[in-house]
Amino acid sequence: MSSTAISLRTVSGEALRAHLDDLARLRITVFREWPYLYEGDEAYERRYLARYAEAPGAAVVLAMDDGRVVGASTCLPLAEEDEEISAPFRQAGWDPDTVFYFGESVLLPEYRGRGIGVAFFAEREAWALRFPRILWSTFCAVERDAADPRRPEGYTPLDSFWGKRGYEKRPDLACTLAWREVDGTEEIPHRLTFWLKRLRETS
Ligand SMILES: CC(C)(COP(=O)(O)OP(=O)(O)OC[C@H]1O[C@@H](n2cnc3c(N)ncnc32)[C@H](O)[C@@H]1OP(=O)(O)O)[C@@H](O)C(=O)NCCC(=O)NCCS
Repeated sequence: MSSTAISLRTVSGEALRAHLDDLARLRITVFREWPYLYEGDEAYERRYLARYAEAPGAAVVLAMDDGRVVGASTCLPLAEEDEEISAPFRQAGWDPDTVFYFGESVLLPEYRGRGIGVAFFAEREAWALRFPRILWSTFCAVERDAADPRRPEGYTPLDSFWGKRGYEKRPDLACTLAWREVDGTEEIPHRLTFWLKRLRETS
């Protein structure tokens, strides 16, 4: 790890295209680990990440070390998200136009534990608050069996980290996303539960 300071940059629109390969590499590396166990699919990554350059209101916070992207955190208006993410909100009577969706935070392990994850939340919440109709921010997290033998010894769930950022787990709001797991042969459905934070009272 370099001793230089890590800088954060929030990037949106076409300027993001230059970083999409970095983002794909980071996602594939970090999400290969528990609890995601995602067997990276580069074709999917290209399609998935292009949306952040194209969707109105989308942005990515990049953590840079000496010009190298070492972490990233994504967000976009829920109304711009795929049906599988936005439908649970619509079905529960939410107005998707009031919700900002945080896609993921991925940080190389050697850069963890020095406040970058906290800054990712602060930057994305500040970005979401630029949109006057937004009242809430949300993200979803995969549900895993605590007794799953693949769970690494000593693994600390992020629940308390998210709680300290002001997010509340909402078991009444969940979605199902399919991906191929490491060493798996076919896609498996995974249940993810949403967490929510109220960003402002009224628009
Ligand atoms: C989630 C993730 C981005 C968090 O990143 P991180 O930079 O390690 O998180 P932070 O350092 O900001 O916060 C971790 C703790 O360190 C504390 N911390 C803050 N500044 C710190 C500093 N300068 N030095 C040490 N610790 C610090 C934070 O307060 C936090 O503790 P708290 O929750 O008790 O307040 C990172 O763990 C990761 O990439 N995980 C794998 C992917 C993943 O699961 N992503 C989430 C779902 S998409």
